[in-house]
Amino acid sequence: MVAGEVSGMVQGCETAGGAEALMHQPVMVEEVVSLLELSPGDFVVDGTLGFGGHALRFLEAVMPGGLVLGLEKNPLTLREAGPRLASAGVRVMRADFRKIKEILISGMFPEPKALFLDLGLSSFLLEGSGLGFSFKRLDEPLDMRYDPSEGLPARDILNSLPGEQLAELFRKYGEEPSAAAVARRIVSSRPLETVGDLVSCVERVLPPGRRGKALHRVFQALRIFVNDETGALMDGIVYGLSSLCVGGRLAVISYHSIEDRLVKFAGRLQGVEPITGRPITPSPEERMRNPRSRSAKLRVLAKKGDIDEKASFGFLSSFCPSVSFGLG
Ligand SMILES: C[S@@+](CC[C@H](N)C(=O)[O-])C[C@H]1O[C@@H](n2cnc3c(N)ncnc32)[C@H](O)[C@@H]1O
Repeated sequence: MVAGEVSGMVQGCETAGGAEALMHQPVMVEEVVSLLELSPGDFVVDGTLGFGGHALRFLEAVMPGGLVLGLEKNPLTLREAGPRLASAGVRVMRADFRKIKEILISGMFPEPKALFLDLGLSSFLLEGSGLGFSFKRLDEPLDMRYDPSEGLPARDILNSLPGEQLAELFRKYGEEPSAAAVARRIVSSRPLETVGDLVSCVERVLPPGRRGKALHRVFQALRIFVNDETGALMDGIVYGLSSLCVGGRLAVISYHSIEDRLVKFAGRLQGVEPITGRPITPSPEERMRNPRSRSAKLRVLAKKGDIDEKASFGFLSSFCPSVSFGLG
């Protein structure tokens, strides 16, 4: 089973904080809606539903007669936001956007006019999920999986990878200059269990002035690895473009240079035309109002013809650092 309707699927999870108070502020909503050129009757897939800020705006644009399907991988987010979004009219599914093709086929949906991906973390995941995404929440376990029933938690990776491989991970996904020193400290401090354990490894090898950026980079790199986020984005781009109707559009908001590079080069795939030359960034007002939007970059691509999936994966892989280790 690739996906489940929200009711009856989200069970046995506890949130660490009041989710409504941590509701995510959606980024560049009007820019996304305008560039997707939505009209009444259109079918849109929001592959990263979160708290639905974008999905609710899509719904306004495609009604009457349209449909918004929202996919979300994190069960806690779905438990908090799913019922409200479902009663507003969004079709909510617990699913990974990597599986978009199977989801659309198995649900017998039409070819979508638009697909949207808003990558990275929501405010809720960072501050209210209890999953160890924030380096400020010292007592939380080092998990970092969007779907805690899948794959390995961050602590298993930190406690089992050889030091050189940890350093490579922090270098490639985080561009952290002190990657090797941080990795050595992690190896000598094992076992790590909590966010505080990882924070103290970084703090012990770096002077106070360099700690903030290093923590940001190390936590981001680990999260990208734990969730195979670059692999997921490549699948989302290729299978997403392949699933769209000809003339349909893919919009992606990214917060990391590797992700932005992948979307940029996807604009050179056969059958694809970039709509945005340079990436769109939030207005000064939006940055002031929502500082978390600061690093966001929006790119939009149009599908002009058939997508050769194999050739597309081959092309995009050459722009993506690969960090893959055999973990038992
Ligand atoms: C930046 S938030 C989206 C915020 C949303 N646009 C809003 O307005 O609330 C990204 C969301 O995507 C989810 N996510 C991350 N990877 C995913 C994947 N591969 N498939 C489905 N959802 C995913 C995360 O759990 C998170 O809730």
